[in-house]
Amino acid sequence: MESSEFHHALALLEWQVELGATEAIGDAPVNCYELPETVAKPKAKAPAAAPLATPAVAAAADPVVEAERLAAAAPDLESLRAALAGFEHCALKRGARNLVFSDGIAGAPVMIVGEAPGRDEDREGKPFVGRAGQLLDRMLAAIDMGRAEAEAPVYITNVLPWRPPQNRDPQPEEIAMMRPFLQRHIVLAQPKLLVIMGNISAQTLLGKRGITRLRGTWTEACGLPALPMFHPAYLLRQPAAKREAWADLLSLKARLADG
Ligand code: URA
Repeated sequence: MESSEFHHALALLEWQVELGATEAIGDAPVNCYELPETVAKPKAKAPAAAPLATPAVAAAADPVVEAERLAAAAPDLESLRAALAGFEHCALKRGARNLVFSDGIAGAPVMIVGEAPGRDEDREGKPFVGRAGQLLDRMLAAIDMGRAEAEAPVYITNVLPWRPPQNRDPQPEEIAMMRPFLQRHIVLAQPKLLVIMGNISAQTLLGKRGITRLRGTWTEACGLPALPMFHPAYLLRQPAAKREAWADLLSLKARLADG
């Protein structure tokens, strides 16, 4: 087995253990998130002093509420990054090599929101550096907004800061607990416009999926003008859709020029 395969397999195993897997085989999956609800409730007449808040139950504090609290308390982007790095409620963190927070210049007028890191992003700790990222770079360069340019007008992040195993789709509960961080990220980065890349991003920021229908029509997200677009990974699979993506890029450029 190659070293990278070994690390990949090890990360997957660790991730499963963190999720609560204790057996190599079982007839049915066990959702460990449900366990706290099955903890025996105290009898009505139990002594008031009976300490029920074991660490396990305390750890079952609502992750979304906790995320909202931590995100709201972050006064700047560095604090937000630190808050994310210390957030232990998302199991994806255990299987990831790196936190992928952002790339580009904070304060840039355009903020792009992608889905989640893939293998290359996980390795480098930077969003959109793999094949989809290279296509994104070419798309941005085509409208003179390339990431490599000194005055690059883009800042890039993802809905999820940790790579999902096997690049699977983010689960609704993962999106729900990361949304407060993303919303705070947008507030602190202060872009003028948002680009919503793909269905997961649309689901997170607009509450709807159906990117084929949504793309190309300006809408509003987090109080900002927002343009849903096809995700570059989709464009790699469906090159014919680049025609629509090009129209959307021109719309983005025009809107930016309008100020
Ligand atoms: N796809 C995304 O949505 N984000 C990345 O960072 C990489 C691929």
